[in-house]
Amino acid sequence: MPRCRLVAASVALLLLCGCDKDPAESKQRWTDQAVPARAPIVQRWYTQDQVATGALLYRAHCAPCHKDNAEGTPEWKKRDESGKFPPPPLNGTAHAWHHPLKILRRVVRTGGIPLGGSMPPFADKLNARQIDAVLAWVQSHWSDEIYAQWRKQDRKAR
Ligand code: HEC
Repeated sequence: MPRCRLVAASVALLLLCGCDKDPAESKQRWTDQAVPARAPIVQRWYTQDQVATGALLYRAHCAPCHKDNAEGTPEWKKRDESGKFPPPPLNGTAHAWHHPLKILRRVVRTGGIPLGGSMPPFADKLNARQIDAVLAWVQSHWSDEIYAQWRKQDRKAR
């Protein structure tokens, strides 16, 4: 059936044409040195439900000090008049991402007062699932680069 063959041939031709375009594009993508390396997309440990729950808990318990978007105090490395450090940013621009998850959980549970700081403990206000939800919300503000760095530390600490 010549008609059938013709259809098959044009489908093959279409496929070929389709393929012809892509290698040119991907070649450009892989050989262009000016394109900065992208951070690998790392699967996050939390779900969007946890982030949504965490948003409410964060607003109620943490935002008064660490600010609405976790931006904290810009001058977080400078002690105040009483010699204490102000609430630092938790959005991935300061130091929080250097801590593995188990330490972040502990910071929220016990606060900073036992270490000479001023953050109150939350062990009697938030249960373990709520603390995880708050931390999920906090980490949802971290870039893929910061999250990937953090995960390396977190894996070492497990
Ligand atoms: C009364 C103010 C205050 C509240 C409320 C507060 N924090 Fe803090 N937080 C601080 C301060 C100040 C620090 C710095 C350490 C210290 O002085 O205890 C800190 C430190 C931290 C750190 C360690 C950051 C780092 O760079 O190592 C994390 C994580 C954190 N807070 C999370 C939270 C979360 C989550 C909540 C809400 C559940 C919360 N904080 C509520 C004041 C507060």
